[in-house]
Amino acid sequence: MKKNKTYWIWLCTAMMAFGSCSRAQSPVSVKPELLTNRKILIVYLSRTNNTRAIAEIIHKEVGGNMVPLELATPYPANYQTTVQQVARENASGFLPPLKTSIDSIDKYDVVFVGFPTWGMQLPPPVKSFLTKYKLTGKTVVPFNSNGGYGIGSTFETVEQLCPDNEVLKGYSTKGGSERDGKYLVIQGDKEKQVRLEVQAWLKESGFTN
Ligand SMILES: Cc1cc2nc3c(=O)[nH]c(=O)nc-3n(C[C@H](O)[C@H](O)[C@H](O)COP(=O)(O)O)c2cc1C
Repeated sequence: MKKNKTYWIWLCTAMMAFGSCSRAQSPVSVKPELLTNRKILIVYLSRTNNTRAIAEIIHKEVGGNMVPLELATPYPANYQTTVQQVARENASGFLPPLKTSIDSIDKYDVVFVGFPTWGMQLPPPVKSFLTKYKLTGKTVVPFNSNGGYGIGSTFETVEQLCPDNEVLKGYSTKGGSERDGKYLVIQGDKEKQVRLEVQAWLKESGFTN
């Protein structure tokens, strides 16, 4: 009798383990919701045109309207002076007023938001944009270029500033390094590589088939 009980406990344990294993291993195909035929806005900040190069690739793939973010008072041409100004703005939470104004933002379903990493943060003008415009009900898609140190807190800040939006997985690549005199690098072979990566990302996100 005791032997029988032990056998059943063993059998049940084995079946439970097998059951959970096979569930975990079975292929789950989660198809993203198809986002084709949506009205698309591509807003981007770009100082040395790397982020703009990504915006152009996205635009070629999905269409829509492209809008560069410009400030009422542009940043200085000097790199170090700009780094210092951005550090002060980030510390104080100052949101620089935008010169760019977007007509009828309500008509868009999807807003791609592109920016470089500045001081490992979201650049203040992008914070201004996401604070000024109410993107209620829209899908937000971030993309980034950086000097090789990555996205920092940029994508996280986009999510924080868009608490009620669906924020899709972002795209990021290494761009230039103004500090070292490297300006537009997303051209030639690098542009081809970024194009392939962006195409795969857009497909995975459901924008293209
Ligand atoms: C003010 C400023 C701050 C920057 N801070 C960073 C940084 O913290 N990390 C990084 O990887 N790159 C940093 N960079 C480099 C840019 O992210 C990189 O060159 C990017 O590709 C520029 O994009 P753009 O050509 O669209 O302006 C900084 C550039 C500027 C102008």
